[in-house]
Amino acid sequence: MSQLEIKDLHVRIEDKEILKGLSLNINEGEIHAIMGPNGTGKSTLAYTLMGHPNYIVTQGEVIFKGQNVLELEPDERSRLGIFLAFQYPVAIPGVTVANFLRTAINSRRRAENPEDKGMPIPEFRKLLKEKMSMLKMDQTFAGRYLNDGFSGGEKKRAEILQMATLKPEIAILDETDSGLDIDALRVVAEGVNALSGPELGVLVITHYQRLLNYIKPHFVHIMLDGRIVESGGPELALHLEEQGYDWVREKHEEIAA
Ligand SMILES: Nc1ncnc2c1ncn2[C@@H]1O[C@H](COP(=O)(O)OP(=O)(O)OP(=O)(O)O)[C@@H](O)[C@H]1O
Ligand SMILES: [Mg+2]
Repeated sequence: MSQLEIKDLHVRIEDKEILKGLSLNINEGEIHAIMGPNGTGKSTLAYTLMGHPNYIVTQGEVIFKGQNVLELEPDERSRLGIFLAFQYPVAIPGVTVANFLRTAINSRRRAENPEDKGMPIPEFRKLLKEKMSMLKMDQTFAGRYLNDGFSGGEKKRAEILQMATLKPEIAILDETDSGLDIDALRVVAEGVNALSGPELGVLVITHYQRLLNYIKPHFVHIMLDGRIVESGGPELALHLEEQGYDWVREKHEEIAA
């Protein structure tokens, strides 16, 4: 049995059906990439997996570690080990990066053990320092308000920092590469690679093959109009880079129309 199983997922936003029967299985330690034209529902999939209330599941199943994810609240999903790095991270003025992360870690600990007193501050400082240097983030970031005035690249690093401190079992990265300069792209990818391994499944959503030179996927999927229409290995991404999406649309004309 796969660790994450998405079966025939149908999702609508307001009155519009966006996902139209999407199926995908991710096993422990596997890296999957999803590519696809703008507006095909990639972020919709990410938000739905995390439990955003605007996304209404009308049909299908999502099972993670044997549990029905769709009946869980977003914080329960997070504690179960699902993590989403947002395409557009929101700023939280008034809450520092350090406080935000510490609150997240402690609320998880408390959910597991109501008696838990929280991670001791020296231990937290050490963890944060270690993860920030891994991501080549200046230590002063810890004291800044989360994403407030962060550059595009800094926001993406802050997302990976959250991932590094929360240690999820499945991480969904929604265009974490967009807006990154070459050095930042490498740093972020190295961060993801440092965390990936047999305990972490990764779902990377990207428009560019370039990212996949750094985060090497085991599987690449192409989405078109709310469904996965092609699946293959890394060569599929290279093919897309060269050929664009026309051949996909032609091959799946009945869907594209
Ligand atoms: N709140 C909303 N109300 C109506 N339509 C919406 C809403 N949110 C998203 N959509 C529509 O859902 C479709 C899928 O959007 P989604 O963000 O999932 O696409 P995407 O594949 O992530 O695109 P991109 O590559 O541009 O990030 C789009 O047509 C979008 O306009
Ligand atoms: Mg998107």
